[in-house]
Amino acid sequence: AEVFRKDYRLPAFLVDQVDLAFDIRERTTVQARLQLRRNPAVAIADEPLVLDGRGFDLLEVAVDDRRLGVGDYQRTDDRLQIAVVPDRFTLRIVTQLDPEQNTTLEGLYRSGSMLCTQCEARGFSRITYYPDRPDVLSRFSVRVEADAQRFPVLLSNGNPVESGALPDGRHYTVWDDPFLKPCYLFALVAGDLACIEDHYTTASGRDVALRFYVDHGNEARVPHAMASLKRAMRWDEQVYGLEYDLDLYMVVAARDFNMGAMENKGLNLFNARYVLASPQTATDADYDGIESVIAHEYFHNWTGNRVTCRDWFQLSLKEGLTVFRDQCFSQDLNGEAVHRIQSVRQLRTVQFPEDAGPMAHPVRPDSYVEINNFYTATVYEKGAEIVRMIQTLLGRDTFIAGVQRYLREHDGSAATIEDFLAAHEAESGRNLDGFRRWYSQPGTPLVTITDEYDARSRVYRLRLKQSHAPSPNGAPKQMVPIPIRFALRDHDGRRISVSPQPPLLPAPDLILLEDEEAVLNVPDIGSSPNPSFLLGFSAPVRLQFAYTSDQLVSLLLDEEDGFARWEAAQRLMLNAFFELQASGPGDDTRALLDALQRLAARPVEDRALLAELLRMPSESYLASQVQPLDAARLTSARDALRLRIAQALTGPLSVWSAAAPEEPGASNAARRALANVSLWYLMSTRVNRVLDIGLKQAASPNMTVAFGALTALNDIDCPQREAAMDAFLQRFRHEPLVLDKWFALQAGSAIGQGVERVRSLLQHPDFTPNPNRLRAVLGTFWRENLRAYHRADGAGYRLLGDQIAHLDRSNPQIAARLCDGLLGWKDIVPPQNQLLRAVLVDLSQQPLSADVGEKIGKALL
Ligand code: ARG
Ligand code: ZN
Repeated sequence: AEVFRKDYRLPAFLVDQVDLAFDIRERTTVQARLQLRRNPAVAIADEPLVLDGRGFDLLEVAVDDRRLGVGDYQRTDDRLQIAVVPDRFTLRIVTQLDPEQNTTLEGLYRSGSMLCTQCEARGFSRITYYPDRPDVLSRFSVRVEADAQRFPVLLSNGNPVESGALPDGRHYTVWDDPFLKPCYLFALVAGDLACIEDHYTTASGRDVALRFYVDHGNEARVPHAMASLKRAMRWDEQVYGLEYDLDLYMVVAARDFNMGAMENKGLNLFNARYVLASPQTATDADYDGIESVIAHEYFHNWTGNRVTCRDWFQLSLKEGLTVFRDQCFSQDLNGEAVHRIQSVRQLRTVQFPEDAGPMAHPVRPDSYVEINNFYTATVYEKGAEIVRMIQTLLGRDTFIAGVQRYLREHDGSAATIEDFLAAHEAESGRNLDGFRRWYSQPGTPLVTITDEYDARSRVYRLRLKQSHAPSPNGAPKQMVPIPIRFALRDHDGRRISVSPQPPLLPAPDLILLEDEEAVLNVPDIGSSPNPSFLLGFSAPVRLQFAYTSDQLVSLLLDEEDGFARWEAAQRLMLNAFFELQASGPGDDTRALLDALQRLAARPVEDRALLAELLRMPSESYLASQVQPLDAARLTSARDALRLRIAQALTGPLSVWSAAAPEEPGASNAARRALANVSLWYLMSTRVNRVLDIGLKQAASPNMTVAFGALTALNDIDCPQREAAMDAFLQRFRHEPLVLDKWFALQAGSAIGQGVERVRSLLQHPDFTPNPNRLRAVLGTFWRENLRAYHRADGAGYRLLGDQIAHLDRSNPQIAARLCDGLLGWKDIVPPQNQLLRAVLVDLSQQPLSADVGEKIGKALL
């Protein structure tokens, strides 16, 4: 059933204390004792008690130690209702769970040899009956009892207060969390795990024990995550003045995890891929991913845990803000431009299409059927962009003071996006109504800019316009404030300084477009300038401006803002790509190749940035730029562009590709990035010497080098590719995280019969239907293998549809994620669009989870 934001009501009952006792045996028995009382803020005196719960056996219900009979309460699929209860009482609930059989990976489940939990958003109600909503905060005390040999490690939130041996080889531990929390932050782990311990001294001098729990044998792969955690702790102290608040911080790595990681209070649970790293098994990109996810979950301790969300419509309150914080952390530590480029690439390839498709929703949604479907790029990444715009407008110091005020005012409680905006308004004295509109309407705004220069009056004039595609429900779109950082340069590339003209030009380098249209007159300009808009990607919009090729070339070569240089490179590449797709090489292709040759002739300053400047737009980004999508044409044009760049730049690419060092470290990582992108281009020439280099480097002890070589070879049908892939499989057969990479390469390869290959990957002896492996095969297939997935006979669509139907029975969250590959049927050329639609119709006629049902239903509207 659909839930609406406007229907929010305060909880009728509050929970002052939760005592949980887990008795782990073949099945797990959970006794919950809840101290409940009526919420004094709710007027209705005799409301019944309604609790959420599903997926377990109910053994006992008792009110104030009086056991209830079945006639004393009502149960539905997912609720328990007790009509008559006192104003204040103790409720005892005893449930029995079967974590072994729990394939949803939500609630309590088994991963490998350990038992662990995932409760956000509504997994706690798979453990016991409870008000499973984020605005009910309580104190938790947890006793865990299990076999001492199978489960030597017993963890929950907060501090360990007691433990001991029990008869029959069993033991127990009691945990107490002094902080109030909603149940989605509850966590429990029982397993036989190695513990790596370190310490951190907070700014105020408190000692915090840091413990990472991993499968035995993985101890040596923890140091990078540990070091990342310490950097994140220091950064949050230095930038936001926020310290950690418990004496213990634990991270557990799980092999089977539906998402990236989870910020449970004091006991983070992580997908192992975001913890474990060694140069032999993880790429430099994996290292960066670990650092940012570790930081993200750590930052949640304040933005998420100390202050949580009132209801799930406010999800971006914690996620948008925390993504913004982790992005700033990574930018501060690893170079601003390169990191920003990577975030924007992600936003454009995933969020922009989502915002233009059937699942488009506001960053603060108005309704949902299944909340798990709203952990989206829109809530996370577009949410982060809104926070970034607020910072751009208020200035960093005022913004940080505003966040601190928000945390102060709402510490220990559940808040709303409105509270966040109100705190910034109070701190800055500015009205932020425009940002309320950013939160409340879907869609990517389009900004159109035209310019003219009048030599007589020496005035340079910009006309700006914002437009919004109509809402699916026909609601009129409102104008939003769009901060456009910009620069004007003269013909020698020197920056022209501009005097502010508030409110349209609040700072010399910032236009604030608030109305539908605006005209900016810049006086005293000696000659027609070269403009550059949206420096650092200052707003999540599409921007249309008729840059000439010459303008783009000079931006690529001479602009200081690294992001703007990349943007110029992307526009040049897109122009060439469109030209190749439409009619074959011409002016735009020449302009690009000429620009890249001039770029390559310059001394290399920033290798990591150069690698990004050279990187070609991905298939899926290009797909979002063409309408309708003709995958066969798109991939051939992209292949042609790859080869032309390789031929035009063979000299420098050969030099760069030869310099891939194998030792860790940031400057070596930059060299590897440049070497890998160079080798990727060169491989398209199919010169034997280059193919042999690929085969040799695929056996490198350094995973970045090896994976770079395999990526370069992956779309080339040659014996070297086969040999390299086979050797890689043999070498890493027993390394699940590396095996995921092999599966992803196979699923993404453009050679041979892609659909058949993906089908056989699903039957491969090394295939297991674990979330990471499924994403590696099916996620890569639909997102990165356009040729195979969009095969003319629709076999790719049917394969994905069949897998979704199959997976939906065991793990609806994973199945629903994969549905994203089916949503875009309206953007595909006929008659293929109808083949994809037929798969949706077919699915819609089967029994589906709420997760998959909601997405398929919206796609067919
Ligand atoms: N809160 C987690 C994070 O750090 C993600 C939880 C995702 N939950 C879900 N049901 N998809 O972003
Ligand atoms: Zn998060």
